[in-house]
Amino acid sequence: MAISALASSIQFRTMEACDIDGATDIISKAFTQREPLTTCLGIPREKDFIKARAVCQLAARDGVSVVALDTTSNKIIGVASSIIVNSNPEPLDIPTEVLKMYEPIYALIDKMQKVFHDSPTYKNNPGSKVISAMRLGVHPKYTGRGIGTKLRQATTDLAQSRGFHFVTAVATAPESQRIYQKLGFQQLYDFKYCDFEMKGNRPFAQLGTLSAELYYKKLF
Ligand SMILES: CC(C)(COP(=O)(O)OP(=O)(O)OC[C@H]1O[C@@H](n2cnc3c(N)ncnc32)[C@H](O)[C@@H]1OP(=O)(O)O)[C@@H](O)C(=O)NCCC(=O)NCCS
Repeated sequence: MAISALASSIQFRTMEACDIDGATDIISKAFTQREPLTTCLGIPREKDFIKARAVCQLAARDGVSVVALDTTSNKIIGVASSIIVNSNPEPLDIPTEVLKMYEPIYALIDKMQKVFHDSPTYKNNPGSKVISAMRLGVHPKYTGRGIGTKLRQATTDLAQSRGFHFVTAVATAPESQRIYQKLGFQQLYDFKYCDFEMKGNRPFAQLGTLSAELYYKKLF
């Protein structure tokens, strides 16, 4: 079902199982070429592809993700993935060797997500149903035209229509931080990459004063 059309050739719709290949391709390219943490760790595309695919599988299953299609080529050119928190008790199907590469990213993201789960905002609303905004990626030929913003708005609208109470997001790039701000998300926490320590190292030191930012939106 079409959610909305931005320009005549771009259409947005809920991500389905048939979109997994196209969506994986877009977000693994976007992350290995442009996302600060993935590029800083130098994670190669063929490894990231495995992780991106696992995320897209969950995203298609949970039904709160959206793809943007260029209807002239009928290709996916953007993806906003989201998953239902606590909906996946089994671990992601990712080989240990690949998981290991992401350890610093997982550690940073876990630390930030914990801030939301420990916050009065969440604790004062027991039993709330939460959506976690995951990877957001747009093909470089299409960036700067509002597509990333429309994609994330569409996933938030889907979450609201399905009765979820909160959307949370760890925004790791300045562009996505701007998108969450534009969409009226509240910033709960931020953390400078150069200050992040893991096992006595600073794996993101070369990102300097760039930060990860934790956002949430209360839907009900
Ligand atoms: C993040 C991404 C999806 C944005 O897609 P997009 O279609 O260009 O997004 P939009 O055009 O809707 O909005 C981008 C906003 O970021 C702003 N922006 C661009 N570069 C920026 C920068 N260096 N610092 C701050 N804001 C920036 C744009 O001006 C725009 O805001 P505006 O509408 O107020 O002008 C795309 O850049 C991407 O795929 N990046 C690589 C993957 C990634 O980093 N994903 C996010 C990880 S959480």
